[in-house]
Amino acid sequence: MATQQRMVETSSKSTPRADETARSSSDAHVIALANQKGGVGKTTTAVNLGAALAMAGHRVLLVDVDPQANATSHVGCDPKAVAASIYDVLIGRRPAVECVVKTTWSGLDLIPSTPDLAGAEVEMVSLLAREHVLRRHLENLRSEYEYVLLDPPPSLGLLTVNALTAADNVLIPVQAEYLALEGLSRLLQTVDLVREHLNPALELLGVLVTMYDVRTRLAAEVAAEVRRHFGALVFETIIPRSVRLGEAPSFGETIFEYDPRSAGAQAYARLAEEVVRRLEGG
Ligand SMILES: Nc1ncnc2c1ncn2[C@@H]1O[C@H](COP(=O)(O)OP(=O)(O)OP(=O)(O)O)[C@@H](O)[C@H]1O
Ligand SMILES: [Mg+2]
Repeated sequence: MATQQRMVETSSKSTPRADETARSSSDAHVIALANQKGGVGKTTTAVNLGAALAMAGHRVLLVDVDPQANATSHVGCDPKAVAASIYDVLIGRRPAVECVVKTTWSGLDLIPSTPDLAGAEVEMVSLLAREHVLRRHLENLRSEYEYVLLDPPPSLGLLTVNALTAADNVLIPVQAEYLALEGLSRLLQTVDLVREHLNPALELLGVLVTMYDVRTRLAAEVAAEVRRHFGALVFETIIPRSVRLGEAPSFGETIFEYDPRSAGAQAYARLAEEVVRRLEGG
């Protein structure tokens, strides 16, 4: 955290004001899925929330900002066969628009990632305004979509800070397991630092309980604890632990292709409605 904090504090000479960073009404809502804890459902949520929003008729762009490239393969795109990726965008080799590919799910586009992206974190350190690189490169695409979902890696490093700087909203998935809340104060501190120094318009969209196992008392206890901590910020929708959600990525399919009638698909469809309600105030 100390390094993170220093990075945020020292490299943002002129902080934009909230009115400079706020989205205009024709721009996409940019949502970063964030939690530095690994395996909490960030990618599963980015992919299936994206697919559900697209199914509801919205134009959606999913941006894989993780060198693991899990979102890329989850939507059926082989990271080894990617011609142009988010890495090319971040190092200034290609404009973002040239890296957009269609997925098999209508309405859902993707900027893929590849393992190369691991190098970007190092290469970007010497860039001017390095935390703003992703935001700057996505600017031209914002009017093309209604929702842009950013899927960063499980760390609070430069890629996640770039995602938080590019976003209007943060959605925090929390796994309904032991120690679910561990690390969340550091994440919230980072969100505050980014808001203070880099992106004044950044808002917390909500906290999502994921991988909820109805059969265990622990899951119910964790969900209750998350609600005690975050109150109304917690989405009403809870994502169940579901074998089908766990299987879908290995087939390169969203849950709506793999098993549209499953509890997981229904939950992500409900989450999409809730997200739209929160953002549109409807
Ligand atoms: N609701 C669920 N039920 C069952 N399995 C799930 C569920 N959500 C996610 N998984 C599985 O759990 C694993 C971790 O999920 P996911 O990749 O979405 O987490 P992540 O937070 O993106 O991980 P990372 O931090 O590594 O990026 C994956 O194998 C995924 O298929
Ligand atoms: Mg992930």
